[in-house]
Amino acid sequence: MSIDFNKIQTPCYVIDEVLLRNNLELIKKVKESAGIDILVAFKAFSNWGVFPVFKEYGFGASASSTNEARLAFEELGVKAHTHSPAFEDKDFRDILKYSSHISFNSINQLQKYFSIAKKKGVSIGLRVNPEFSDSPHDIYNPCKPGSRFGVTVEQLGDALPQGIEGLHFHTLFEADSFALEKLLEVFLAKFGRFLPKLKWVNMGGGHLITKRNYDVQHLIGILIAFKNKYHVEIILEPGSAFTYQTGYLVSTVLDIVENHDIKTAILDVSFTCHMPDCLEMPYKPVILGATDERAGMPTYRMGGISCLAGDFMGNWSFDKELKPGDKIIFDDMIHYTTVKTTMFNGVAHPSIGIWNEKSGFRLIREFNYQDYKNRLS
Ligand SMILES: Cc1ncc(COP(=O)(O)O)c(C=O)c1O
Repeated sequence: MSIDFNKIQTPCYVIDEVLLRNNLELIKKVKESAGIDILVAFKAFSNWGVFPVFKEYGFGASASSTNEARLAFEELGVKAHTHSPAFEDKDFRDILKYSSHISFNSINQLQKYFSIAKKKGVSIGLRVNPEFSDSPHDIYNPCKPGSRFGVTVEQLGDALPQGIEGLHFHTLFEADSFALEKLLEVFLAKFGRFLPKLKWVNMGGGHLITKRNYDVQHLIGILIAFKNKYHVEIILEPGSAFTYQTGYLVSTVLDIVENHDIKTAILDVSFTCHMPDCLEMPYKPVILGATDERAGMPTYRMGGISCLAGDFMGNWSFDKELKPGDKIIFDDMIHYTTVKTTMFNGVAHPSIGIWNEKSGFRLIREFNYQDYKNRLS
């Protein structure tokens, strides 16, 4: 059985539970085989309606705000490992309540909150910046000169501040295990001398473990070797890997317009509101049943429903002409989508549903005028 998209009212994000469970199984295998801890980075996906599925696999959570830490505590039943570029006095009590580990981004922040965090029994870490990243996109590179993330080796000097139990770094983007291997060489050259004093090292996210051809055995080998040599707990906190290629954004063509020989299919979804990474990165998503532009085939831009002039992407070719009512199904639209959406222009927010072979499609959440109104005042 496969998803019957024709029966799904659009716009709608559809999570494929079968694909999701495949990812969760694989990540669990890495966790167990390497003997490390793997956290779900909530920034990529935090649809708590699906947490009962996640709970079956026993992952922790990585949070970047009080809200994410609280969600981890209340809905996933775990205390989060929390990092933020800066914490605020007004939130810090809650951060402590919902976090087992906190990684500070600067020595200033560490000094400001060290005593209270220590008193509450939180494991304290420092984010370091190894000044090495494989990211081909500047917007996802936290290691560019001038970066606001983490303490560099020069800033740290010779001694690790007292009481630090872990180091945290995040520099990779949709990377393979070989990029991690290179990163670890740089990390060790710069920060390796501090490892004998530490309990844990958090190697951040950007490990796209669930991508086809990711060399999982190589990753496991690297992690085991690191652990055996340096005797520290290893933590990974991937976001994308958990929900990579696990579902769709299903939309409908509302109209076809033409200007200077360019045909645009106007959809009931928006790139800027519902698929913002496509414009930010930018990248062109896959549409089921379509190809990249091919001469001689009906070819269209996809146009968003917002008023933003740049709310479109192109071009895709189809077997036949598109018409109003046709479904357009964007692939791989679960990570960094539902967590980032806006209601700009008051556009309808896609509902969220989950599909599995046994129960078929189940709607988890619909959005309405009150959701739009409640964000405003
Ligand atoms: C500190 C930190 N950890 C984890 C992640 C998750 O990264 P990814 O979703 O690429 O695995 C990010 C992403 O920005 C991050 O900033």
